[in-house]
Amino acid sequence: MAVAKVIDGAALSKATRREVADRAAVLRANGMAPGLAVVLVGDDPASGVYVRSKVKACKDAGVESFSTLLPSSVTEDELLSLISELNGDDRVHGILVQLPLPRHIDSHKVLEAIDPEKDVDGFHVVNAGALMVGRPLFKPCTPYGVMKMLESEGINPYGMDAVVLGRSNIVGKPMAMLLLQAGATVTMCGRETKDISVFTRNADLIVSATGVRKVLTADMVKPGAIVIDVGINRDEESKICGDVDYGPISGVAGHITPVPGGVGPMTIAMLLVNTIEAAERRAKRLATRMAA
Ligand code: GUN
Repeated sequence: MAVAKVIDGAALSKATRREVADRAAVLRANGMAPGLAVVLVGDDPASGVYVRSKVKACKDAGVESFSTLLPSSVTEDELLSLISELNGDDRVHGILVQLPLPRHIDSHKVLEAIDPEKDVDGFHVVNAGALMVGRPLFKPCTPYGVMKMLESEGINPYGMDAVVLGRSNIVGKPMAMLLLQAGATVTMCGRETKDISVFTRNADLIVSATGVRKVLTADMVKPGAIVIDVGINRDEESKICGDVDYGPISGVAGHITPVPGGVGPMTIAMLLVNTIEAAERRAKRLATRMAA
């Protein structure tokens, strides 16, 4: 039985973060310490874990992080005024507001308050629109990480039939846009799709971002297909697992990403890439201003 090649996101993330550390060292040597502001509202345990990983990754790469932890009772106005403060803070080159936010806060309003030049998550409507026309300031970290994983394996989506499962603003929609721009023919499936297997069975590339365990099983995958698993779920034994039925699909697919150790670490690496990019652009703007 053929066994899929495993794309090691943990190793690629490490190499990517090392490159960020080198770029951060250059900036620091030129008098600029790159900085990321991380805002966490409430006490959702999963969000807490993600935020701590992001802060640690910053530290390891020589990027300063400024964390603000707010109670879930914080008002929308208080959060908006924090964002406005961070927009004006010269030590902060990137701003990340961990999602989801509590229900009483309009997350669209909050994301749109972030200066698009500091929007390292790429969630601001300006960046989402710019992505749609192929000119993003920042690509959203998870789909950007997936594209890097494909690239690292020499996989070019040009001409491929791709299926994206899940149509969130964070992953599914920007993922489809990046694949489209890379020349893939993209089908997006959501909860409402009558039968996703009609699409997945013919796909050369499947990206699953549904948060539904075993949403993809081996009988739904074409032999040799590339299967990218963005899901983070828990199995019957409470162990972390993805969206796809990993063992059996490994016997059918050509490439597969594991969970943990696949897309997750790449999301963090690409956040650092976007942050260093934001800081370098800022340094360039300052240098141009000085020269004028
Ligand atoms: N919640 C789940 N994924 C993400 C992400 O990539 N960025 C932010 N800000 N929140 C998230």
